[in-house]
Order: sequence, then structure tokens, then C-alpha cells
Amino acid sequence: MLDRFSWGRKLAQVSRLFFFKHDVLRSGTLRGDPKTIMRLYDFFAPVYDLLFPRIQTYTATANHIVTTLVQPGDQILDLGAGTGLLTVKMAVKASHVVAMDLHQAMLRRARDKALELGLDGRVNYSQGNATVLPFRDAVFNLVTSSFMEVYLTVPEKTQMLEEIHRVLAPGGRLIFMTGNGEVSNRYIKRHQWTRILERSLFTDIEFTDHYDVFRVIFARKAGRGNVLEPSLNRSSRDEREGA
Ligand SMILES: C[S@@+](CC[C@H](N)C(=O)[O-])C[C@H]1O[C@@H](n2cnc3c(N)ncnc32)[C@H](O)[C@@H]1O
Repeated sequence: MLDRFSWGRKLAQVSRLFFFKHDVLRSGTLRGDPKTIMRLYDFFAPVYDLLFPRIQTYTATANHIVTTLVQPGDQILDLGAGTGLLTVKMAVKASHVVAMDLHQAMLRRARDKALELGLDGRVNYSQGNATVLPFRDAVFNLVTSSFMEVYLTVPEKTQMLEEIHRVLAPGGRLIFMTGNGEVSNRYIKRHQWTRILERSLFTDIEFTDHYDVFRVIFARKAGRGNVLEPSLNRSSRDEREGA
């Protein structure tokens, strides 16, 4: 039997391996190549929930998104939903969530979680690439994504943003949870996000950083239709202080 300390060490080893594989993937010309991402997640799908969802600040940032930015009645598309960390939290509050991911085993885990929580009637699943969305125009009023776009090059991110813009209703919102590009070169920087979001016709762009390392990006498709006005202005200091 492993004691708590040995489990902690094992977890740290697996996390280091994840980031090593991750960075090898990102440093090559293969970045964004779906086959490589599939191979990475063939390996990590069985242990994924022992990694990110165990990081307290990660789930706190996801909780912050759900509490302050998701509205009852939202029709949501969650891109790169993975094992459903954000999907199931949002499904408790919103009308409906479509969880989309490249990897079937990750989506299967999301489905199992939704079933366990009795949320299956509120979630649908779509296996595919976030850069080519198989949905009609203007059918969602919120598109979310956490730690998926990191696999895409800047032109691929732009392609995804144009697709998101197409499937959002006028006034619809985009919320990304990602890493802080000002403290880690794994992620692109604020000014780069602003440029590609504006180029893809998004407005009201806001950034909030949480626990220094996480970044929440908010943007809106111009137009009327989204009457509720969630704000990103609550600071991560408030969050730490439990305000
Ligand atoms: C780091 S995990 C994040 C999962 C989940 N959003 C979370 O926060 O726990 C990244 C997920 O993005 C998916 N992914 C990567 N590239 C994708 C793409 N182009 N289209 C759809 N999903 C993609 C992977 O299969 C993986 O499940």
C-alpha cells in the first residue's frame, strides 16, 4: 500500500511527465496535429483526473468562471472539454452544454461524470476538431474552453475564433481559461490575444489573472441578444480572500 507521501511523489512524477510530453509536442512542427494530440491523450486519458483537476487553484479558477460568468439559461459549447471538468460544473447551472473534444476516451470520462451527477439530460457530446465546428450559425450564447487552445498555432487559434464567432448568437460570449502568457512562454501574451480576438471581430475583451499563473479571457460577439451582463472584474485577490 502506498502512503499519502508516496502517492504525492507519484503524482508529481506523472505531472512532470505530462509537461515533458506536452513541451516536446509543442516544440516540434507537430503542434496542433490531431494525430499527435490523440497519442498524447491515449496515454493521459486514464490518469488525467489525477492531474489538473487535483490542482486546487485550477478548480478554484474554473469555479470562479462558473459562479461569476455562466448564466442560467446559457446554451454552451465547451471546446476541448476533456474529462468534463468545466462541462459538468457549468451543466449544473446552464440550460445545456455541448462538450466537444478530439479524443473519444476523454469525452467518455466526461459522459461518465455527467451520468454520475444526473446531468446527462443537459449535456451532449461531439468528437471533433475545435477549428472546424459542426454546428449551425448563431446556435450558442456562450463558448468556453479551458487549456485546449495551447495546442493550436496562432493561425489555428484564429481559425477557431472565426468558427466560434460564427456559432455564437449576436451578443454571445467567449470565455477561455488558459495560462498567463506574461509569466510563462507556454502561452501567448495579452497583446497577441487582443490582436487575434479583434481580428476575429470580438469586442469587450477583458483579461483577469488568477493565482498569478491562470488567465481568464472574456470577449463578446457584437450585437444584441445577450441581456445578462456578467463581469470579469472580480479580482483574484477577492477570490483568495473568499469574498
Ligand atoms: C489539457 S486538456 C483540458 C481538458 C479540460 N478542458 C480541463 O480543463 O480539464 C486539453 C483537451 O483538449 C483536447 N484538444 C486538443 N486539441 C483539440 C482540438 N483541436 N479540438 C478539440 N479538442 C482538442 C484534448 O483532447 C484534451 O482533452
